[in-house]
Formats: sequence, C-alpha cells, structure tokens
Amino acid sequence: MAARKPLIAGNWKMFGRATDLGEIAALAERVGAAGDKVEALICPPSAYVQSAAWQARGKAVAIGAQDCSAVAEDGARTGEVSAAMLADAGARYVIVGHSERRTLQGETDDLVRQKAEAVLAAGITPIVCVGETRAERDAGRVAKVIGAQVRNSVPTAGAGAVIAYEPVWCIGGDRTPTLAEIGEVHALIRSVLNERFGAEANGMRILYGGSVGPKNAGEIFTVDGVDGALVGRASLKAADFSAIILAHPAAS
Ligand code: 13P
Repeated sequence: MAARKPLIAGNWKMFGRATDLGEIAALAERVGAAGDKVEALICPPSAYVQSAAWQARGKAVAIGAQDCSAVAEDGARTGEVSAAMLADAGARYVIVGHSERRTLQGETDDLVRQKAEAVLAAGITPIVCVGETRAERDAGRVAKVIGAQVRNSVPTAGAGAVIAYEPVWCIGGDRTPTLAEIGEVHALIRSVLNERFGAEANGMRILYGGSVGPKNAGEIFTVDGVDGALVGRASLKAADFSAIILAHPAAS
C-alpha cells in the first residue's frame, strides 16, 4: 500500500472568535515534532481563515475552510466566497459537502462536485464529505448511498481530493459505528476510488469523522484504511485536539 501521510482535520463549524485563534499556536506547541508525521489541519469559519493562516505561519498546522462558492470565477455574487479567495487568504483545504450543508442548505451531489472542482481549480485540496443516515443504514443501503455519493460528489479530475466518511447519525453525539463497520465503509470507498482513478487512488486519503475524541481516536486509527480523522467539537481546544493527533500511531 502506498504510504499516505495521516491527516487529522478540525472542523470548527460556526464556533469560535478571534480570541480562540490562540488555540492554533497552543496546538502546534503540544503536537511538537509529531507534526512532521501527522498533518494537522484547522478549518475555522471563513471570517477567520486569513487571521488563522497568519497565526499558523511557520508552524506545523495547516489552515483550511469549511465551504466555498461553486463558482470559480469572480463575479457579482453577493455573500459568496470563492475557493480562489480562500486560497489567497491562506487556506490549503476546503471541506465540501458536509452533511450539515447537504441537510440544512439542501446541497446536492452535483453542487458538491462543482464546489470540489472550484477548490481544485484554485490549486488547493477539497475534503469531500460522504455519509449515510441512520435510516439508510437500518435499511441496508450503506453501500448504495456511499457509492453514489463518492461517484457523484468527487470530480473526474478529483484524484487529489481527500474523502471524509462521516456517518450522519454519528455527528455531534456520542455514537460511532463499530470498528468493523468503519473498516467496511472505508474499504468500499477505496474500491470506488480505485475503480474511478486507478493507480492515482492510492494516494487519496480517506478520513473518518463523527464523534471522534481523545478517548476513541487511538482505536479508530488502528482500523485498516483509515487515513486520519475529521473532528468537530473536540477540535476547538488544543488540549483535546492535540490528544487526538498524538493518539495516531504515526505520531510516536
Ligand atoms: P463531531 O466530531 O462534533 O461529532 O463532528 C463531526 C463533524 O461533523 C466534523 O466535520
């Protein structure tokens, strides 16, 4: 298997203020030399991307964004922020297709794919989120749902993308799938990527997200095919997020 550098990404969602950006330096300090082996990423709200990138300069913490416009070109689109602007502000990744946006903003696979294309056009990396609802899992539709999301949300030119498997029923609570269930879905995603991207798929990282914290991160990282994590609540404070990063076997 190709060596993929683990990526542990924090999604701050709509939390935080300018004063919380101090967590970035605190995180870099706590992670220390492990930052060379495990890639640490913080995705603050877009209002703070530039200041966060400034805080992270020279440190082993990358900065990303949580969403962007599906339109790559500048234009008359009040309120929209383009991937090129986020890249200019210092973002190296943009999360697209998070389940909160799919559910609350009605984002479709088509729109998510266009956003991922805009991110790639800006020369940075999309983190494309996929995941089934509890009802879909109970109905035995996981493979069908996830397969369709990976096929339709990841662009044809998306061999540089990162995929995040975030079961919707595990976000923001205290439940996670079993380690076997996580492994099954990661294997399924990997097989769709192989089918679509051939050898290039070997370099693509697949993250697990949904109630990852300092207590369960270590065991989740042992699952074959898990290349890191996408973390919500537990990424807001350097103490918790660094504990997750340091729980990765590659960190020691
Ligand atoms: P929690 O880690 O808070 O469950 O959130 C997961 C998530 O949605 C990350 O994008």
